[in-house]
Amino acid sequence: NVPVITIDGPTASGKGTVAVRVGEALGFHVLDSGAMYRLVALSAIRSGVAHDDEAALAALAESLPARFVGDRILLGAVDATDLIRQEAVGNLASKVAVFPAVRDALLARQRAFRTAPGLVADGRDMGTVVFPDAPLKVFLTASVESRAWRRHKQLIDKGFPANIDDLRKDLAERDARDTQRRNAPLRPAEDALHLDSSDMPVADVVGAILGRWTQ
Ligand code: CDP
Repeated sequence: NVPVITIDGPTASGKGTVAVRVGEALGFHVLDSGAMYRLVALSAIRSGVAHDDEAALAALAESLPARFVGDRILLGAVDATDLIRQEAVGNLASKVAVFPAVRDALLARQRAFRTAPGLVADGRDMGTVVFPDAPLKVFLTASVESRAWRRHKQLIDKGFPANIDDLRKDLAERDARDTQRRNAPLRPAEDALHLDSSDMPVADVVGAILGRWTQ
């Protein structure tokens, strides 16, 4: 059985960076499952699919021409790596992720990332739904304030506009949608290692995870 480390947590908790670093340290593949939801959102925007049309969104998810090549994320012939990081896309991703048919359509695609020598999977339901048998599960949180400033820096670094008050409000809305949806809500797996990264440098979070990795 190919080993998986799952890293779940709320928006902007630092999961992505941590997952990549842990993956590098162990030579494992990395799955950014949020990118898949963002790709569905981007496709919906591009093809004019309505935001509440569950069947059409699920069909998009099912046939998503997505490819993960090195650190680039391709949607058909389009390099979507930076496009999917826009707030508008993230916001819609959080809405399409509520639909069970969309989540189901992405399930097999996510599990297909589990190939030797191992996988680090980052998302909301990696430990609870997608890889419930993962030998190491992490639940990574951080305060709203530090998450809002992290997201602010991320957007500014990419040259996108960012307003800290809007981001705080956005985070609260996304947290609510993530935790309150009926299908695969954000919650720690029973056997998850809890880490709060509010005052923890990335290197320390990575160190804490690697310290638990015994295989
Ligand atoms: O950047 P942020 O953490 O907000 O988002 P992301 O990890 O890129 O994921 C985009 C959206 O997809 C989130 O708002 C989640 O609601 C959703 N998502 C999910 O429902 N399940 C996952 N495994 C990953 C992401």
